[in-house]
Amino acid sequence: MYCVRKVTDDLYWVGANDRRLTLFENIHPIPRGVSYNSYLLLDEKTVLFDTVDWSAGRQFLENIEHVLNGRKLDYLLINHMEPDHGASIEEVLLRYPEAQVISTEKAFMLMHQFNFNVDGRTIQVAEGDTFSFGKHEVTFVSAPMVHWPEAMVTYDLTNGVLFAADAFGSFGSLDGRLFNDEVNFDRDWIDDARRYYTNIVGKYGPHVQALLKKASTVDIKMICPLHGPVWRNDFAYFIDKYDKWSRYEPEEKGVLIAYASMYGNTESAVNALATKLAERGMTNIAMYDVSKTHVSQLISETFRLSHLVLASVTYNLGIYPPMHNFLMDMKALHVQNRIVAVMESGSWAPKSGSLMTEFLDEELKTMTVLNEQVSVLSSMNESSALEMDQMVEGILESMND
Ligand code: FEO
Repeated sequence: MYCVRKVTDDLYWVGANDRRLTLFENIHPIPRGVSYNSYLLLDEKTVLFDTVDWSAGRQFLENIEHVLNGRKLDYLLINHMEPDHGASIEEVLLRYPEAQVISTEKAFMLMHQFNFNVDGRTIQVAEGDTFSFGKHEVTFVSAPMVHWPEAMVTYDLTNGVLFAADAFGSFGSLDGRLFNDEVNFDRDWIDDARRYYTNIVGKYGPHVQALLKKASTVDIKMICPLHGPVWRNDFAYFIDKYDKWSRYEPEEKGVLIAYASMYGNTESAVNALATKLAERGMTNIAMYDVSKTHVSQLISETFRLSHLVLASVTYNLGIYPPMHNFLMDMKALHVQNRIVAVMESGSWAPKSGSLMTEFLDEELKTMTVLNEQVSVLSSMNESSALEMDQMVEGILESMND
């Protein structure tokens, strides 16, 4: 059964939802699934904007057939070639033999690498080019590294619709409600949107900033991303999030406590720390056991909050592996400008504190590591309790800076 929605008078959402996929990119958990958005314009010419992951191909093809209602497909416009959007290109071209593909030079190179036969059917475009489909004229804006090098976004000069590729997307499948004003985004979607952005595009902040700068020069009436809800109002809310995330600026003053505990003693110590913070009025606290929390969630929370407490047991004379993985992921995603407090624990040779500090100093140079550190020898004692009080002071003082 087809499942489509009208976006404007002559534009339809023809994408599909995937609630069966467990891991996006085979790495990030998506308990709420994900949508692969594709849009079909019925102008004098018919234009399909991007395709979907192959897993959703059947639904997608049914949707296209329904909306075309006997018309031929004239153009397939590809903004982004990652297979969650590009995988169905060849099938679309097989079914619609007159369709020509509009995309960038790099995207055509990738189509060739993926063994898609587009020979003789390509229309290569570049930044600033325009193209008319009848009533609608579009222009192309290159968006390199948002999130692959070939990516572009397409702006409809006629009605202000921005086909934004991966930008302004979100994890989470659509439940019939397509538009941002049909859902409570700030309550139900923002965490998935943040986890999507920070883990998928988070590394490329300067590129996102460049795209936001270009976007600020046009009058956007609607944002059609490749994942998640379509935005038709309240753009400032989401653009502000993107601006903060891509500048690596925290959304909120608050403390993320990420801890690694083998037998509960380190956990007990961070419970005491969190309680002291709350007693002093700092109640914006998020606490996670790194062994039980997917690193994509830790990354997302690191982007959200201003302060980070890393509390790790020593393991094989090193940093506990899930904590080390978190540090490595922060480095990979270029997380920046957080204030970090370090707590170590161990029973016979606590070393995780000095090792975490060394990692932060050498690999995450923009982080500010507080001098106040806590060392727990097996379990909290008077000495470590005093260090903890000093750490609480250090955290609170740095919030006032
Ligand atoms: Fe949703 Fe970069 O693909």
